[in-house]
Amino acid sequence: MKLFKTLACTALTLCAVFSVQARPLDEVKKSGTLIAATEGQFAPFNYFNGTTLTGFEVELAELVAKKMGLKIQWKTLGFDALLTGLRQDRWDLVIASHGITDERAKAVTFTAPHYCSGGMIITMDPAIRTGKDLAGKVVAVQTGTSYLENVQKVSAVKEVKNFPTDVDARSALNSRRVDAWVTDRFVAKAVVDKNPNAGFKLGDMLFIERIAAAVAKGNQPLADAWSQGLAAIQADGSYAELSKKYFNEDVRCH
Ligand code: ARG
Repeated sequence: MKLFKTLACTALTLCAVFSVQARPLDEVKKSGTLIAATEGQFAPFNYFNGTTLTGFEVELAELVAKKMGLKIQWKTLGFDALLTGLRQDRWDLVIASHGITDERAKAVTFTAPHYCSGGMIITMDPAIRTGKDLAGKVVAVQTGTSYLENVQKVSAVKEVKNFPTDVDARSALNSRRVDAWVTDRFVAKAVVDKNPNAGFKLGDMLFIERIAAAVAKGNQPLADAWSQGLAAIQADGSYAELSKKYFNEDVRCH
């Protein structure tokens, strides 16, 4: 296979085809390490506490990997780069609160979902609560997220402003450069809980989504091994304990 790969690489187009092989499950197991990528800017799911990467998804991934008999080597990148990197075989798995969408499923293979949530409206103006209230308003979302298409779907918004991170979208709301911000329901709740006097108001949920990890398209054995590990932590109580610690409720999909 190695020789074939080298030969094929003399023709440039074929080389591109052959160099995008995802690491198969056997190879990952042999190395003992799962290379996982996340963003690190989406608290409480994946974020930095000082210089330490942590969050519900980071701790969950560590538990799942342990069930798989693996350690994790973490990479953190901009949200936009995460799924693309799977196709370039730069990491084995992405866990960064991606909602399962048909569009994304064309490009990557999703595992079983590790939580269920949805996009929620958050504002500084108690008069804006529902999708209808967003008509004529300027709404902030993070670039590349499922919030963009869903905000456009529900209402005749004046403008949807894209921000490189969800933290930037939040800052835009906080400084009233936008009328509303749409983000994950648990992100929104955490922001309100942590800043009770900042004037944030929670609005309605615009849509619901199932959130899953993703592997390279067609790497089904790795996706299945991950999903089995996830099922194991959901069965032995460790998922419930972790979910309670972060959210004070069980966020698994039912
Ligand atoms: N759930 C949303 C989506 O699927 C947002 C994900 C944002 N994740 C992040 N790490 N910033 O697009």
